Amino acid sequence: MEKFIVEQSHALKGTVRVGGSKNAALPIMAACLLTKEECVLEGISHLSDVDTMLSLMEELGCRTCCEGERISVCCADICSTQPDYNKVKQIRASFLLAGALLARFGTVSIAMPGGCSIGVRPIDLHLKGFEKLGALCETGHGTVNISAEKLTGCEIYLDFPSVGATENLILASVLADGVTYIRNCATEPEISDMAVFLNRMGARIEGAGSDMLRITGVKRLHGCTHRIIPDRIEAGTIMLAAAAAGGKIRLENVRCDHLTALIHKMREMGASVTEGENYLLMEKRGRVNNTAIKTMPYPGFPTDMQAQLMALMTIGKGTGIINETVFENRFMHAAELNRMGADIKVEGRCAIVRGVRRLTGTSVKATDLRAGAALIISALAAEGKTEIGEIEYVDRGYYHLEDKLAGIGARIERRSDED
Ligand code: UD1
Repeated sequence: MEKFIVEQSHALKGTVRVGGSKNAALPIMAACLLTKEECVLEGISHLSDVDTMLSLMEELGCRTCCEGERISVCCADICSTQPDYNKVKQIRASFLLAGALLARFGTVSIAMPGGCSIGVRPIDLHLKGFEKLGALCETGHGTVNISAEKLTGCEIYLDFPSVGATENLILASVLADGVTYIRNCATEPEISDMAVFLNRMGARIEGAGSDMLRITGVKRLHGCTHRIIPDRIEAGTIMLAAAAAGGKIRLENVRCDHLTALIHKMREMGASVTEGENYLLMEKRGRVNNTAIKTMPYPGFPTDMQAQLMALMTIGKGTGIINETVFENRFMHAAELNRMGADIKVEGRCAIVRGVRRLTGTSVKATDLRAGAALIISALAAEGKTEIGEIEYVDRGYYHLEDKLAGIGARIERRSDED
């Protein structure tokens, strides 16, 4: 078992290169299943979730080859439409294999992804959409069997702009017969990146980034090369780490237009942020001014940045209010932050964060991916030493985050229990 040992760090300084987006890479990998030809993906971060997805796809018969940040995937000889049950359970995005396998082979049998520590996370919107396209979905024994003689373009309205449902329904409809409209779809940049990739493969997707997609089915798709967009959540996490410790940093490989909500909040809280073409500068000295945020689907404030912002607010001036509207149980990190001396009260979907002058290092545990990142942020500001356990959660979504932070002066290292 590995853990992070973090000591109070002052004034982070320097440049960090942000990696490719996890949440863009995983759906785009699933999309590779839609063609027999080779697809090459560049700018891939070697995260454990990416490895899990690769291994799921290899077991289905895909040939994959990884060289640095580049992977090639060839899905010419698929021998199974039943992704491994246990691996599907490990990562939520594996359920996107359903849309891709259904579109290409007309059948898929896949584990229900189930809930996780941040909420129940149902798949009703995915299944409703597949059924509208003409598929039959049968669930039982923790598995869902989906099949269709033929998928036909249709009108789909999503009750909530779910990221995963939008992606799965795009995957299922690109090879369907006729035109599919997905209304009230999600508009996250990762979905637009997948649409760019699919259009490069020969798909006809219009409206990506707006709340209505128009997908004209095509007969076949071909291989292509695509560079994954930078990870906006990694960029935001490093910004908040620098705001908590104080300092002046430069981020490279950043799309500032994907970070609008966070940049506005950071300025409101007293940081100076300069947006450049593919780079961002941020400077902050002293305590931030606490504020109110409400997580919302994009372009609202991302739920994937909520835990990290809460960590920053714990040492801010005044009282911060966080309203989590996307997931029903995403405040597990509050209890761990309180163990470090924070003053957070959770009431339903609302957290009230009273800023304190100091936090104290202690032993804490990551309860999920972003919660782990939040603990690192508060540990950088806490007096003394903090030990963060269960960091395999952090590795799911950040590639050697400790090296990136240590590179700008953070006192953080990875240790294994044997050390
Ligand atoms: C994706 C991201 C995740 C992010 C989330 C919200 C990936 C791999 N993961 O997750 O990091 O936190 O978007 O921005 O891209 N819902 C339903 N029924 C459904 C589907 C979703 O009720 O069929 C609900 C969920 O329970 C949740 C909300 O919709 O409350 C948002 O979920 P969704 O947008 O689907 O998130 P994911 O795609 O799972």
